[in-house]
Amino acid sequence: MTARMKDKVVLITGAAGTIGNAVAQMVERESGKAIRTDLASHKGQDFALDVTSEANWKAVAESISKQYGRLDGLVNSAGIASLGTIESEDFAGYKKTMAVNVDGTYLGCKYAMPLLKVRGGSIVNLSSVSGLVAGHNLASYNASKGAVRLLSKSVALYGARLKPPVRSNSVHPTFVEGAMVEDLLAKAKSREAARERMTADVPLARFAQPEEVANLAVFLLGDESAFITGAEIPIDGGLTAR
Ligand SMILES: NC(=O)c1ccc[n+]([C@@H]2O[C@H](COP(=O)([O-])OP(=O)(O)OC[C@H]3O[C@@H](n4cnc5c(N)ncnc54)[C@H](O)[C@@H]3O)[C@@H](O)[C@H]2O)c1
Repeated sequence: MTARMKDKVVLITGAAGTIGNAVAQMVERESGKAIRTDLASHKGQDFALDVTSEANWKAVAESISKQYGRLDGLVNSAGIASLGTIESEDFAGYKKTMAVNVDGTYLGCKYAMPLLKVRGGSIVNLSSVSGLVAGHNLASYNASKGAVRLLSKSVALYGARLKPPVRSNSVHPTFVEGAMVEDLLAKAKSREAARERMTADVPLARFAQPEEVANLAVFLLGDESAFITGAEIPIDGGLTAR
């Protein structure tokens, strides 16, 4: 075991999910304190936090301020996937996707910033390959993940002016083995054909493992990446290289 997260307090949203949980476990394995948050329906979290609720964010930030006096890292992993073309998806669906994926990330950066700037810190925002390249049936998901990409850069430029600085980067996975992909496969006519189609564009010809994404997040949270900010980092088996 190494101790890349020693003395670091890291807040993770969507921590009951595939990637959030993998990040929380890796932060703890690396000797850090993971503060796990997710919707109230998920038991076993440190805080119930609906990322779309400003009141929830204020309350959680206040509790963390009282308990720890600071944050060293924030991982905005809460997110929802949505399938639909510009014609087929209804406006309500679009607004829900934008609320969780964009408002949630915005509020996270906003309310964690006062705690992160106490000692300097690092924000990792979960975008997606869908924040870099589009799909015909991903209208709202593409819009939301593209917004996360540039929000991360604006936060990075603001955070770079602070002393000590707060870094901010976005990570862009392709399909990751877990609940979100299982949901998509379950909607397909043939699971196997859908899985084949989904891996066909990936040069390394497989989905990502949650631990591989967690590894990247922990690298970005840690001191080894001290000069990396405002970056968009694909973790996609080469998908966006062509
Ligand atoms: N899984 C993939 O293939 C994949 C690929 C690229 C990007 N991503 C992104 O990575 C992030 C994590 O994905 P995952 O695979 O862990 O998904 P997941 O579905 O396993 O977990 C997402 C978590 O977010 C939580 N959540 C949903 N709405 C919320 C809200 N309003 N407030 C708080 N929590 C909420 C859910 O309860 C769930 O625990 C998401 O932003 C997703 O868009 C995932």
